[in-house]
Amino acid sequence: MADGHITYTSENLTGAVLERIRPDADARVQQVMTALIRHVHDFVREVELTPEEWEKGVAFLSELGRWCDDKRQEVILLSDILGVSMLVDAIAHRTHASVSETTVLGPFHRENPPRMQNGQNMSPGVEGEPLEVEVRICDEAGAPLEGAQVDVWHTSPEGFYDSQLGDEHSMRGRFVTGPDGVVAFPTVMPASYPVPHDGPVGRVLEAMGRGPMRPTHVHFWIKKPGYRDLITHIFKDGDPYLHEDAVFGVKASLVTDWDAPKKDGKPAKLAYEFRIPKLDAA
Ligand code: BEZ
Ligand code: FE
Repeated sequence: MADGHITYTSENLTGAVLERIRPDADARVQQVMTALIRHVHDFVREVELTPEEWEKGVAFLSELGRWCDDKRQEVILLSDILGVSMLVDAIAHRTHASVSETTVLGPFHRENPPRMQNGQNMSPGVEGEPLEVEVRICDEAGAPLEGAQVDVWHTSPEGFYDSQLGDEHSMRGRFVTGPDGVVAFPTVMPASYPVPHDGPVGRVLEAMGRGPMRPTHVHFWIKKPGYRDLITHIFKDGDPYLHEDAVFGVKASLVTDWDAPKKDGKPAKLAYEFRIPKLDAA
């Protein structure tokens, strides 16, 4: 063996890789890459990853990329089912109880949804149980916010988003609040549905013995200049999948009883008051 040459081992390799990060590199890059390298090396050591498993991992990540296009985002889906998306969300939105909670955006929001007037049916021609939606957008103190843009989208009663059924926009719309901060409209009852599971992420779920289902919900993306964007959903209480959401997106404050009005013979109703903080407020 020639003198002065290092042999890397499973013990000293991590330190050698970390030493190559230049001290004048961006401080955040140093912090993130140091932790990433440490955790990945520890993972490989902990499970004693074999060369065959490493090859499978490389093939899997390459396949993830091949499944992505403008309608399908398999990498985000992997992050979602591993709970990483909701962990990032939880860290970014450690909020007060006075502010509405956030959850995952998901892949089914579409740019430029149909513009809707208050009271306009969001799902014309879609057959199903009627659902009334009435949400009020308020500031942190509960004062109504006029001129907030509210994007809403949900599945069909069979559990499919419009983009899974064809190119036409349906069961989605963009509303703007009036002086009372309210957006109210009729639509149809959405359903619980599986996250896309016909690709590599579906195989991961199956290998872990996990199901792909998400509980019934309606998505909201609220924007008001000077206020923080709110991306969230409201879930239907009583849904059998509330405790096994494939993407861990459920938060107790976002679950409401849509069926309560039915006891008085009225249609089901989703009612909610969203409170959004001013920008730069904690
Ligand atoms: C959704 O709620 O639309 C969704 C969220 C995460 C992954 C798949 C779908
Ligand atoms: Fe959804």
